[in-house]
Amino acid sequence: MEKVLVIDFGGQYNLLIARKVRSEHVCAEIKPYDKISCEEILSEGYKGIIFTGGPNSVYDEESPHIDKKVLELGIPVLGICYGHQLMAYTLGGEVGDAGNGSEYGKIEVSHKGNVLFDEIPEESICWMSHTDQVIGIPEGFEVTASTKNCKIAATANDEKKLYSVQFHPEVTHTQFGQQVLRNFLFKVCGLSGDWKMESFIESSVERIKRELGDREVLLALSGGVDSSVAALLLHKAVGERLHCVFVDHGLMRKNEADMVEKIFTERLGKSFVRANAAELFLEKLSGVEDPETKRKIIGKEFIEVFEKEAEKLGEVTVLAQGTIYPDIVESGKNGSAVIKSHHNVGGLPSNLKFEILEEPLKFLFKDEVREVGLKLGLPEELVYRQPFPGPGLAVRILGPITKEKIEILQEADAIFREEMKNFGGDKLSNQYFAVLTDVRSVGVMGDARTYGRTVVLRAVTTDDFMTADWTRLPFEVLEKASNRITNEVRGITRVVYDITSKPPATVEWL
Ligand code: XMP
Repeated sequence: MEKVLVIDFGGQYNLLIARKVRSEHVCAEIKPYDKISCEEILSEGYKGIIFTGGPNSVYDEESPHIDKKVLELGIPVLGICYGHQLMAYTLGGEVGDAGNGSEYGKIEVSHKGNVLFDEIPEESICWMSHTDQVIGIPEGFEVTASTKNCKIAATANDEKKLYSVQFHPEVTHTQFGQQVLRNFLFKVCGLSGDWKMESFIESSVERIKRELGDREVLLALSGGVDSSVAALLLHKAVGERLHCVFVDHGLMRKNEADMVEKIFTERLGKSFVRANAAELFLEKLSGVEDPETKRKIIGKEFIEVFEKEAEKLGEVTVLAQGTIYPDIVESGKNGSAVIKSHHNVGGLPSNLKFEILEEPLKFLFKDEVREVGLKLGLPEELVYRQPFPGPGLAVRILGPITKEKIEILQEADAIFREEMKNFGGDKLSNQYFAVLTDVRSVGVMGDARTYGRTVVLRAVTTDDFMTADWTRLPFEVLEKASNRITNEVRGITRVVYDITSKPPATVEWL
């Protein structure tokens, strides 16, 4: 399978580079600069290499560098931003502050005709974000593009197939950025662009078979998209040597635990185990009001239940996880700066000792994971499931959690989601749900006074869940949901809509 290696130097657009390459049907794998050797590059058979941007100056003491031999393997290389400067510096060119100041934002660039700029007008707009620049090119190179303040905005050594650009071709602000990438992939590297999700599935299955042999594999299946897709992919590779443990903590949405069980017993047979722990979780959470304590209890119990199930299986040496690429980036594990610490329930089991951690989706983005899921036969309701927090409804019930409160919230939430669906909810909002408060208020039903709980409806619009806006839902949805909830859910006398964005609020209430 043809693939390209993206060497990560810690830049903020790195994930975009891989994504843009894959959109050309070329497989892209991302590796941190300090975790890759020439031997590995050769043995993996990469057909092209891309150096990403990064926040450093090549002269910083701590700045990431690369073995010069990587540039002498005969494999085409494209350096972007920091990668452009690093390539020049490594091969004997000069990097510095040209005295023209930094460039940031949309800048006019003109090229001088080179394969990298094929089919691109001589003058166009590119996206720049740099302080240092290349001020002297290495021997054998020529300058192929420049801007007003950056005379060496692109370089090329056609004979050695080494190319570099100071601007970012991967961002949409660079008018012909995708064409630059296409030129590199197809005209320089000579790739055919025949990579498809089916090829990803096939090659992953082959790789997993080869690497895991006849080992037993354990996976915590939450019913979320990532762990579900990982489960199906692994099952295709190792069959019943896969053991998926689904811990039912009793805090799922209405009927969801049964849905997960149905879907996976049909597809995984004996590889699926449901651990019914609802009673245990309720007991441990009894009387607990503090949100962080709730989360901690759930995390701890989750691991205990999971470990108990795992112990029943005998010797299992591989732990599999549905980690996807943004998880790695957000946790700062890939060399990039930490954006958000990843909060999944449980984390890694502490007592079990595994020899191998298998993360078959770690190079994929969410939309790609969904595509794999559909190809593997997962139903759409699961593949397009909105995000659901690991601790489940516990972070949506204020005050102590009781069985009755869980049931009330499940009913109200199901009604809201049903009404949202009727109005094309997924197109209106990225995440929507109900929250049960402890606030009681007076109402009137028939001729009688009531004194019931308040339910909050929350719907947010967001790209990345790190910031979010409250969704301007049509009044009709709110009206219908409110009517139905107060009529159909016993104990609810008031429904309110949350109109707070994140920040200052968070998406969840707890
Ligand atoms: P917040 O409340 O932090 O939520 O603004 C942002 C997104 O993360 C989800 N969320 C969680 N997901 N475990 C998870 O797996 C958690 O503990 C957790 N807390 C919040 C939340 O649903 C939203 O999509």
